Amino acid sequence: MNCKHVYTANPDRYAEGVMNYRRCGTSGIRLPEISLGFWWHYGEINVYGEAREKVLYAFDHGITCFDLANNYGPPYGSAEETFGKIYGENLRSHRHEMIVTTKAGYDMWPGPYGIGSSRKMLMTSIDESLHRMRLDYVDIFYSHRYDGFTPIEETMQALVDIVRSGKALYVGLSNYPADKLAEAAEYLSARDVHPLIYQGKYNMLVRDIEEKHIGLLAKSGIGLTAFSPLAEGLLTDKYIGGNCPDGSRAALGHHLKPSAITPQLLARIKALNCVAAQRGQSLAQMAVAWLLSQQHMTSVIIGPRTVKQLADNLQALHGTCFSEDEIIEIDRILSMQ
Ligand SMILES: NC(=O)c1ccc[n+]([C@@H]2O[C@H](COP(=O)([O-])OP(=O)(O)OC[C@H]3O[C@@H](n4cnc5c(N)ncnc54)[C@H](OP(=O)(O)O)[C@@H]3O)[C@@H](O)[C@H]2O)c1
Repeated sequence: MNCKHVYTANPDRYAEGVMNYRRCGTSGIRLPEISLGFWWHYGEINVYGEAREKVLYAFDHGITCFDLANNYGPPYGSAEETFGKIYGENLRSHRHEMIVTTKAGYDMWPGPYGIGSSRKMLMTSIDESLHRMRLDYVDIFYSHRYDGFTPIEETMQALVDIVRSGKALYVGLSNYPADKLAEAAEYLSARDVHPLIYQGKYNMLVRDIEEKHIGLLAKSGIGLTAFSPLAEGLLTDKYIGGNCPDGSRAALGHHLKPSAITPQLLARIKALNCVAAQRGQSLAQMAVAWLLSQQHMTSVIIGPRTVKQLADNLQALHGTCFSEDEIIEIDRILSMQ
């Protein structure tokens, strides 16, 4: 018998000091401080063995939340298929220990019904996602964005119906302007499907949601999860030398373009790197730790390419306190033009 792929979970994955779990808003769900995202690195173009190793390393280190979307890949759908294979072959007996999410709202299939937040899109997409992921239900189904076109009532009623059908346990919202978020939350709560969580882009370089969203989430008892915590790799030391290392996201032109790395940005990154070094952390660790120290944060969704990066990011959990002087210095650097 070939035992190469037999997986036994680390029995110490929930031991003290491995991972902390935070209450998600006012719900009964606790999420790990760090979740694993599947946007890149799990597509058909990636090496399955590396994807599997990363997911199992994450689970062995207390990461219970896995964040997907219908169109993660490339090609679209293939990250869910990769997840389904890893889950089916290794984690099926641990389903009750896992929070698996998916989303719909951006472009997915050709034609007018394959994009946006219509009822047609969401109802079709959830069925296809469940099939690809080999699951009977997801824990959180997100409306991936407010599309500026579909009435909030139509999108929210589709979410309510998805929960009522048992295909999702909870509902999440992502990339909503604050006023639409408030409308959506009101609609859902009036139908006893209180939104569990909001997922927004939030990192040291992108802090827009601090202005209106976070107060609203806190007031409404909705949890908060941050995506792109390292600004897709900018908040690491990899671009400090001024070029794009082979295999990096900017070198591959995967969403992050080399033109984003301006001299002004590099100056801020170098200064942040010095603060991180003084704290005994890598810049990646400090960027994750900084998010975990922010008001109302539930979980930070990381997107490491390698197990080494994942292990590095997990070390952030051991240094999430910032002194008053460090906060002042970081804010000063972030306001540099
Ligand atoms: N709701 C939404 O609309 C939305 C949008 C985007 C993302 N998300 C979710 O958020 C997740 C995370 O987003 P993201 O992938 O942009 O996160 P990220 O953590 O900001 O960026 C990940 C990239 O950072 C680099 N990196 C990570 N750890 C590193 C380390 N220790 N040292 C050096 N470099 C490191 C790697 O870049 P290289 O590949 O260059 O090495 C990696 O590809 C996604 O997977 C997805 O689940 C949601």
